[in-house]
Amino acid sequence: MTLTGKARVAGVMGWPVGHSRSPALHGHWLREHGIDGTYIPLPVRPEAIGQALAALPVLGLAGVNLTIPHKESALKHVHRVDDQARRIGALNTIIVHADGTLEGRNSDGFGFIENLRAGAPGWQAKKGPAAVLGAGGAARSILVTLLDAGVPEIRLTNRTAERAEALAREFGKAITVWDWANREDALAGSHLLVNTTSLGMAGQAPLDLPLAKLPGDAVVNDIVYAPLETKLLAGARARGLSAVDGLGMLLHQGRVGFRAWFGVDPQVTPALHAAIAATIPK
Ligand code: ATR
Repeated sequence: MTLTGKARVAGVMGWPVGHSRSPALHGHWLREHGIDGTYIPLPVRPEAIGQALAALPVLGLAGVNLTIPHKESALKHVHRVDDQARRIGALNTIIVHADGTLEGRNSDGFGFIENLRAGAPGWQAKKGPAAVLGAGGAARSILVTLLDAGVPEIRLTNRTAERAEALAREFGKAITVWDWANREDALAGSHLLVNTTSLGMAGQAPLDLPLAKLPGDAVVNDIVYAPLETKLLAGARARGLSAVDGLGMLLHQGRVGFRAWFGVDPQVTPALHAAIAATIPK
């Protein structure tokens, strides 16, 4: 739509930023709600993130999302960080307040759990253990969120055991570390399985994990969304388990920034899912 002089402006900072689906996501919501605003890609070099964030209030922008490589380094350039973002140790949403101060949030955990609850309404956090594959940045946001939701035990397994052990030390004894070579064992009695590794992503090695040990009511969530239907999700469906794709996490995480910048809590509809899915190579 045509912008007026009062248009609200937000965007995404990354390097590179051309792969980001956030402009398409926020553009969809802006059109849907007829908002006088825009959301633009902002290519920001790693060393320039401090300058770029400081420029937001100067230029009158409403805020930005952050993607690789800025999510951790941005922490030292904002005035306030919410508790969950601090525990995750990374920011993905910056809000410019009226007084020019910057607030940092992390909506990845919100996106993860909203997507999980939408895709598997029967899943109950307190029912039993969850198994999580991977110990990188994505795993951190998911661990913090599952702990906050009340999951009693999180079985964490990672190729590099030391990374999983470090997370268990940091987040406490609800996190148990399982051997990557025997990762299948972590599935017995787990009501949720989440893949946070890059295995199964287009161009990466496949994830080798038989699902036979999962109980019949288990939910399988792959945060990989390219391809949308990973072998892990296909295997879950073949066993009759609930399968939740990773694209929904991206879509739901965007709601936090959109609401703060444009004043509307947007919906993740099947039409939005289909529109963004259409941008993912098969
Ligand atoms: P992100 O921030 O997206 O989570 P990351 O920090 O690079 O990215 O983490 C990638 C995850 O995928 C890690 O858990 C990584 O395992 P390591 O900690 O051992 O590197 C996992 N991963 C990537 N390639 C893998 C492979 N070929 N086999 C097993 N795990 C792999």
